[in-house]
Amino acid sequence: MNLARQTVLVTGGSSGIGLALARALRERGSRVLVCGRDEAKLVEAAGLVPGLETVRCVLGEEGDVDALVEVVRTRLGGLSLLVNNAAVQLNYTFPNTDSEVAVTNIKQEVDINLSAPIRLTAQLLPLLAEQPESAVVNLTSGLALAPKKSAAVYCASKAGLRTFTKALRYQLEEAKLNVRAVEVMLPLVDTPMTQGRGNPRLKLSPERVAREVLAGLAADRIEIRVGGAKAFGWLYRLAPGLAERLLRNT
Ligand SMILES: NC(=O)c1ccc[n+]([C@@H]2O[C@H](COP(=O)([O-])OP(=O)(O)OC[C@H]3O[C@@H](n4cnc5c(N)ncnc54)[C@H](OP(=O)(O)O)[C@@H]3O)[C@@H](O)[C@H]2O)c1
Repeated sequence: MNLARQTVLVTGGSSGIGLALARALRERGSRVLVCGRDEAKLVEAAGLVPGLETVRCVLGEEGDVDALVEVVRTRLGGLSLLVNNAAVQLNYTFPNTDSEVAVTNIKQEVDINLSAPIRLTAQLLPLLAEQPESAVVNLTSGLALAPKKSAAVYCASKAGLRTFTKALRYQLEEAKLNVRAVEVMLPLVDTPMTQGRGNPRLKLSPERVAREVLAGLAADRIEIRVGGAKAFGWLYRLAPGLAERLLRNT
């Protein structure tokens, strides 16, 4: 894929990995629109990345995905790269959480992390299919393979997104569309999502992630495993029990 002339939507591109991807794609010459909930963060991102386009959108809020799709159609006039990056991670345990709070948490995580990428894929596929080359890029985690106990729904949402990406790939291949379904599997990355969590020495920078993701896209890879996610994938194949023990309490 030629990254110099793509038209891109990065969900949650106002911070962390999404912002690093948006910046790297802009630097290559692509047109990039990012969305997020917080207007102030979007304004800040636009100040940091010349030419970055922004739109406020609360994924999970009724009507907001429809509105976002409309902005892509009318403002961008087309789309060749949909990067489903926005996600939230809530840490709580079911035995210690009031069921009403749990229900609210479940809805938020499933809506943002799983339903929104699937809906955006469905609604933007006709635009993607019009391009000579295009891709849906879904961000998952090593936690999609082996969950940690403190974020059951987050891990389930990433496992669901991983499975969805694979089945979508089968469908796109069978339909002979020029749209690829790409999974980007990440290790621990130093972003607002992981502030105060995990071993700081093990965290990759978002810029390193962006470099590896863009190299994978340029090489037309359909599964891009970044940093330690590569070795972890192999470990999971060879010794799933050990891999699960490694992530269980992280
Ligand atoms: N960081 C890691 O260690 C790690 C590891 C594996 C996978 N990942 C994955 O990488 C992706 C990016 O994570 P990150 O660490 O960069 O997270 P982050 O720094 O917390 O950024 C998340 C982005 O999503 C936006 N967002 C959150 N909820 C949204 C909503 N409802 N509607 C629209 N935008 C929303 C946020 O902006 P607002 O707050 O303004 O909405 C922000 O721009 C996620 O899919 C995450 O699961 C991260």
